[in-house]
Amino acid sequence: MKVVVLGASGEIGKAVAGRLRDRDIEVVAAQRSTGVDAYAGTGLAEAFAGADVVVDCMNVTTTSAKKAIGFFGTVAANVAAAAITAGVGRVVCLSIINAADPAVNAKFGYYQGKAAQEKAYLDALGADRLTIVRSAQWYELARQMLGTMRLGPFAAVPHMRCQPLSAADAAAALTDTVIHRPEGDVEVAGPEVLDLTDIGKAIAQRNGSPRWVLGVRIGGEPIRNGALVPDTPSVVAPTTLDQWLAQEYAA
Ligand SMILES: NC(=O)c1ccc[n+]([C@@H]2O[C@H](COP(=O)([O-])OP(=O)(O)OC[C@H]3O[C@@H](n4cnc5c(N)ncnc54)[C@H](OP(=O)(O)O)[C@@H]3O)[C@@H](O)[C@H]2O)c1
Repeated sequence: MKVVVLGASGEIGKAVAGRLRDRDIEVVAAQRSTGVDAYAGTGLAEAFAGADVVVDCMNVTTTSAKKAIGFFGTVAANVAAAAITAGVGRVVCLSIINAADPAVNAKFGYYQGKAAQEKAYLDALGADRLTIVRSAQWYELARQMLGTMRLGPFAAVPHMRCQPLSAADAAAALTDTVIHRPEGDVEVAGPEVLDLTDIGKAIAQRNGSPRWVLGVRIGGEPIRNGALVPDTPSVVAPTTLDQWLAQEYAA
């Protein structure tokens, strides 16, 4: 089996590529640093030659709906077209639980981008050639926000009620999906329902910094009040927040 991992230098792409290689699967790491620009559409044909599966782990960091829709919609259309031309059997796209629902993403530009991504893939490939893995938010997302939304001893983390998991557990579910090809799409969530703000506070406490973590209300009311929590996820990942904190912040 030959698998192209788009975004193999990123948080989850790196973990997925590593897990696939651990199972003796041939992996092509495809991102701009290896000569593949999925937004411009360059390098895809060469990377996809002879591949059985393409996994999209790419990302853009933005809160702008225009930028997110432009990036995810264009990239998905380019990847799908190149996959069809190269005769790739299947594309696995990583998305976010309930992010494509217009009732959830009306005030969340990034999630509107994920909706555009899912639609572009489905329109181009159809359900037979596409598996969407929708993950819940990762514990690492709260840590990332502590770094970006920070001023001195203060950091802001949005109130998001979700069923979070570790990026490593999400990578394991994504890898299993690539290898075992389940029927239909996949939802992967963690073992507990939590508020992302509280995860940020727990990380700051373990890390000793930042001193103050403030919960902020951005992205719309559904995100705060449980619309991101899945009804019956197909995979419930095992690692709790406390276990992840113990691993990441060992004394
Ligand atoms: N964070 C969460 O809680 C969460 C939850 C569920 C799902 N997700 C999804 O997981 C995906 C990956 O997120 P992440 O945090 O792992 O991403 P990340 O660490 O920001 O990495 C992004 C990757 O995309 C590549 N990339 C960006 N633009 C590209 C382009 N034009 N052409 C080719 N490659 C490009 C980057 O490599 P180069 O810069 O070298 O090109 C990098 O390898 C996203 O789609 C996100 O929506 C995230």
